[in-house]
Amino acid sequence: MPDTLTKFTYQTFQQSKSIFGLAHKTLSTELMKIFSPVENKTTPLPPELIVKLQEFLNNLLETDWEDAEKGVYPKSLLFDNPWQDFFIYYPQLCMDFAQTWERAKYKKHQDFSADVDTKNYPKYYVRNYHYQTDGYLSEFSANLYDLQVEILFNGCADAMRRRILAPLKEGLKVFETVPATQQRVLDIACGTGRTLKMIRATLPQASLFGTDLSPTYLRKANQLLSEIPGELPQLLQANAEELPYLDDYFHATTCVFLFHELPATVRQRIMNEAFRVTKPGGIFIICDSIQLSDLPEFEPMLDNFHETYHEPYYRNYITDNLVERLETAGFENIEIQVHHVSKYLIARKPSA
Ligand SMILES: C[S@@+](CC[C@H](N)C(=O)[O-])C[C@H]1O[C@@H](n2cnc3c(N)ncnc32)[C@H](O)[C@@H]1O
Repeated sequence: MPDTLTKFTYQTFQQSKSIFGLAHKTLSTELMKIFSPVENKTTPLPPELIVKLQEFLNNLLETDWEDAEKGVYPKSLLFDNPWQDFFIYYPQLCMDFAQTWERAKYKKHQDFSADVDTKNYPKYYVRNYHYQTDGYLSEFSANLYDLQVEILFNGCADAMRRRILAPLKEGLKVFETVPATQQRVLDIACGTGRTLKMIRATLPQASLFGTDLSPTYLRKANQLLSEIPGELPQLLQANAEELPYLDDYFHATTCVFLFHELPATVRQRIMNEAFRVTKPGGIFIICDSIQLSDLPEFEPMLDNFHETYHEPYYRNYITDNLVERLETAGFENIEIQVHHVSKYLIARKPSA
């Protein structure tokens, strides 16, 4: 297909996802107001902020396209969408509205099905982030998760995740004498494996590893990743506060959408662990929500996020000094990038 046509198809695909996400959220909010009204203090976004958001979104998609065009990753990744999951789980997600609304209305944050085992997890973890059914601890939740995130970000969650790939590929250049098959990359809190799938497409020969606390999310990740030809990433259930790996083991470490869900002290512990397991000269890349200092004018939107979803550590996160934390862990040369509602910290472990 000629490039202009591929680009047009990509833009149309993203626009459709964006419209779908917006329509879903508008409709579910209206239904909630009728069937389960909740008093919250969200503020409507001023028109100039909406214009700015749209600009950021356009830039994100343009950068995504350019990175694929440069060959950072294959263009096929731009169209990767879990269609089968969409058709199976979208109806289930809608049928789950009533439960989610009830949790939001009565501020039930620790509401789990009887068969969910919540023992032996950190206290901060055993909760219904976003009021989602069973938190991170059931198959039902694992099946709905990707769809929920795509809707939350109006169809650009994967484009946001892909922003780690160019710095990852660049960062690994210092290890160019190491055979590609011996380069090890760890994705911390890999969830259902979407980031690992993208890393696999970018680094087809690298040894990939993923850890997460949720056994059901790891099972879902295993399903997704085992569909891809080539070496299967090694998945391990582990608390990122105590990674079960040797010191200096990974050439690169990544972590997507985790830190805003953690208490400050845990954020620091996980950065310390990322530092410990990364090789000297290696990089650690974080992708997460923007913070107040990145775009102060976005404060109403960040506040609305905190008000609407159950995100108890978010307010602290948006004012936390992540650069200082990374430096405390031992990283240096920390580069910050800001894309659509997301920020990226690219940190290097000093060479030995
Ligand atoms: C918002 S999800 C992000 C998942 C994935 N990285 C993505 O891009 O969608 C947060 C993930 O962090 C995991 N998690 C939270 N606290 C953790 C911890 N202390 N150790 C390991 N995983 C953790 C959760 O189980 C969940 O899969």
